Amino acid sequence: MRKAYIAGNWKMNMTPSAGAAFAKELRAAAEKAAVDVKVMVAPPFVTIPAVAEVLKGSSIIVAAQNMNDHESGAYTGEVAPAMLKDLGVNTVILGHSERRSYYGESDSFINAKLRLAIKEGMDVVLCVGETLEERESGRLEEVLSTQVSGCLKDVSAAEMAHVTIAYEPVWAIGTGRTATPEDADAAHAYIRSLVASLYSDDIAQNLIIQYGGSVNASNVKALMAKENIDGALVGGASLSVEKFLPIMTFDK
Ligand code: 13P
Repeated sequence: MRKAYIAGNWKMNMTPSAGAAFAKELRAAAEKAAVDVKVMVAPPFVTIPAVAEVLKGSSIIVAAQNMNDHESGAYTGEVAPAMLKDLGVNTVILGHSERRSYYGESDSFINAKLRLAIKEGMDVVLCVGETLEERESGRLEEVLSTQVSGCLKDVSAAEMAHVTIAYEPVWAIGTGRTATPEDADAAHAYIRSLVASLYSDDIAQNLIIQYGGSVNASNVKALMAKENIDGALVGGASLSVEKFLPIMTFDK
């Protein structure tokens, strides 16, 4: 039985003070509602310490949205995994489509970061997903297969316990256009089959696959009802407690 995993990717929103105030409100609301799914929030780097302080002792996980592929050194403007771990951050989102498209991140670069994160004992939410043009030209499976196998290259079966995959169709991110639960489930089933062929049925069955792309309080229940959808990676709707709480409590 896979435990539901709901995550909020704050992207480039929330100053440290706004993030701390928001986290305080979110924690109180989650505790009052007795949220019993796994919940994560990913603030921008500089906002992490303030949010981690507020969420200390709560079950809400604080994650980073990215990290560098080196342990330390002359990489101006970058953040190393050890720096995140020093803040108590043990989870990192990697391969988000915004990083792939705006910052040119390739599967091999994401793979280098993913292997370093795992070597450092961190958990990873690996994002994959196709553009509209790729979907409409019938290349969905080819794109997912290339991304999944490229990003997981040289990751061992045992290390897969640290990996969650987020399927985020690029055309559904921030557009208000969600994949239908059926389309999302089919893509998730395909990702699960890829993982089964790369590793084993057992690893594929235990893999948490989140859906991301315009998830909100109105569509979360239908998405989560699908066999292969185990969670959500939420952007816009994770920035308001009023919108995020009903996503965390979709099963109540
Ligand atoms: P939206 O929920 O705003 O579409 O963003 C999804 C996303 O990119 C989460 O990582």
